Amino acid sequence: MKPGEESRRRRTGAGLIDGLAALAIAPILGGLGCAPATDGAAAAPPSPPTQAGERAPSAESAPDGRMYGFGTAATAADIAAFDIDIGPDGAGLPPGQGSVEEGLAIYEAKCIACHGATGSEGPWDRLAPRLPADEFPFAEDPSARSTVGNYWPYATTLFDYTRRAMPFEFPGSLTDDEVYALVAAMLYMNDLVPADAIMDSAAVTNIVMPARDRFVEDDRAGGPEVR
Ligand code: HEC
Repeated sequence: MKPGEESRRRRTGAGLIDGLAALAIAPILGGLGCAPATDGAAAAPPSPPTQAGERAPSAESAPDGRMYGFGTAATAADIAAFDIDIGPDGAGLPPGQGSVEEGLAIYEAKCIACHGATGSEGPWDRLAPRLPADEFPFAEDPSARSTVGNYWPYATTLFDYTRRAMPFEFPGSLTDDEVYALVAAMLYMNDLVPADAIMDSAAVTNIVMPARDRFVEDDRAGGPEVR
């Protein structure tokens, strides 16, 4: 240190900053498992890199030789967990079943706070009722409220949506049997099935929703066409 430098460092606070930096670096090094062995035997053994939030690049993550150093290839099981969409024709519906009675009990426990006692009170989306004569006023009346019973063209979508998105705070938490039961309950609230109905994949596929023929098929080819 040159003469006068100590006083300059004190004036500028550089010494303080050096001290803080040393304090900050120590935990980072510790976290990476490379803390300097300051006092011999007391030094912690290096921890494996995975504990520092690092994932060693595996052959699996970059089969084509590109290495980004993070991520792993999705396994078939990973993809299957997300690949749960159900077609209008029921393709993809899982085994299982549930009754209106079971569904109403689950609804009371997990859905009623947001959708109301009969599905029509809210405060969130209205799930019921149908409209008299199954009218479809949406083109003429922009204020008309859609519900499951007056708008949804397929009951299979009701299964798909409920399973993937509800209850709002815990999506994906329902078993397939619970979802069948809830679908039965929501169809019952819309007078689409009787109180003793039991829903399974065939029954859900066979329900003809009032709005089934109210939509046109989107057969646009993806070009610049406008309708
Ligand atoms: C914490 C509030 C909350 C709870 C609990 C909840 N929902 Fe919902 N639900 C919502 C909200 C908000 C929407 C609208 C979501 C959106 O449009 O993205 C919705 C939408 C829906 C819809 C679509 C309605 C439509 O016509 O668009 C269905 C069906 C539904 N919920 C069923 C259920 C069922 C069944 C349960 C119980 C298992 C449940 N919800 C629990 C808040 C909730």
